[in-house]
Amino acid sequence: MSVPIASKDRKARAREVLARCDALARFSEDANSLRRTFLSPPMHNCHAEIAAWLKPLRISPKIDGVGNLRALYQGAKLDAPRLLIGSHLDTVPNAGKYDGILGVVLAIALLEELEGRCHPFAIEIVGFSEEEGVRFGVPFIGSRALVGRIEDDLLEQRDWNGISVREAIQQFGLDGRKIPEAKLTHDPLGYLEFHIEQGPVLDKLDRPLAAVEAIVGQTRLALRFLGKANHAGTTPMDARYDALAGAAEWMSFVESHAKQISGLVATAGSIEAKPGATNVIPGEVRLTLDVRHKSDEKRSRAVQQLTGRGTEIAKNRGLSFQWSGLLEQKAVPMDDLMTREIEAAIRNSGCELHRMTSGAGHDAMILAERVPSAMIFLRSPGGISHDPAEKVLLEDVEAAIEAGMQLLDRLADSKEFLGRVYRA
Ligand code: HGY
Ligand code: MN
Ligand code: MN
Repeated sequence: MSVPIASKDRKARAREVLARCDALARFSEDANSLRRTFLSPPMHNCHAEIAAWLKPLRISPKIDGVGNLRALYQGAKLDAPRLLIGSHLDTVPNAGKYDGILGVVLAIALLEELEGRCHPFAIEIVGFSEEEGVRFGVPFIGSRALVGRIEDDLLEQRDWNGISVREAIQQFGLDGRKIPEAKLTHDPLGYLEFHIEQGPVLDKLDRPLAAVEAIVGQTRLALRFLGKANHAGTTPMDARYDALAGAAEWMSFVESHAKQISGLVATAGSIEAKPGATNVIPGEVRLTLDVRHKSDEKRSRAVQQLTGRGTEIAKNRGLSFQWSGLLEQKAVPMDDLMTREIEAAIRNSGCELHRMTSGAGHDAMILAERVPSAMIFLRSPGGISHDPAEKVLLEDVEAAIEAGMQLLDRLADSKEFLGRVYRA
């Protein structure tokens, strides 16, 4: 796949980025669509393919205790502080090829564009093992390991086959005792993530790139309506405890309520009705809720209103209603210095600038707990993501490489950036 490092122009490099995203999209748990969840077997192929791309750079990536791919490109001095550049390698079911993956592939392209040049900082590429939260319902396992947030109860979370996170780590061939070693010990200067916007903003503005100023907060809940299963043919309509009818009433409230709060999004993304037979009144419904807003206070208030309404609906129908938290993630501002440098790099690469908030969650919001973090968005044509129709434009990838190279040079010249003291 790779041609010797120095022999590529920008457009060829951008073409190779897209070809590599295609290559990684082949590694899926499903025959006819892309699904690569936390430490599923195709992740081994993904790691091997990336290792082959890094070989000409004489970099051999390591896989840390939670399955993150870690690859170090030396700085001018052996123990130079690091700039982390990365994103996630896991995907949602029926995924597009670029969500997460593009950020890792672009990071490798920047290393190749350096053509052996070194900056005052080393560059550590991170391919996170789990950002989406598909397999265990809990997102950000990969990036949480870097900030030391892999608690025991997380390791006991079980997937739909009853396998725990700890067992999944072992089954992937990793040693669970090494999880603490994934934690950042050195003092990174910053974390940079390239990512597709996954929404319509840049497409509507006809801009290729954006600097991300903040990432909205999100709450994810697992909820359950409990009624009584019964015969669909013999049970009169006024003698039913139909859990699915209750859930349906609540779900339409979720949508109508969210529409009234500007900037709020609320989604009941998955639902399972039991026993799930045509001729049986559903006695139990499990579903999920995802609520986001850039204001933590408005998001929390909306979550209270939505769960409160669920309790009322259940009471009126003689059902019970419970919920538990899967994720409580505050809104996170991006690092001001790096974002200013990103804006300058985008402008200097000849692109019209846009600065925006991210409605999607990203590993940058976890890294930001410990490391100054920043993001560069690439346009999502049609605003589509989490779907095979997800796209990126060749010229936008070219612009991202140019802006990325400009940014590395700017950070290398920034005394403020290089003089960062690690925020404990
Ligand atoms: O769900 C999200 O916001 C991201 O795509 N994981
Ligand atoms: Mn995603
Ligand atoms: Mn993503």
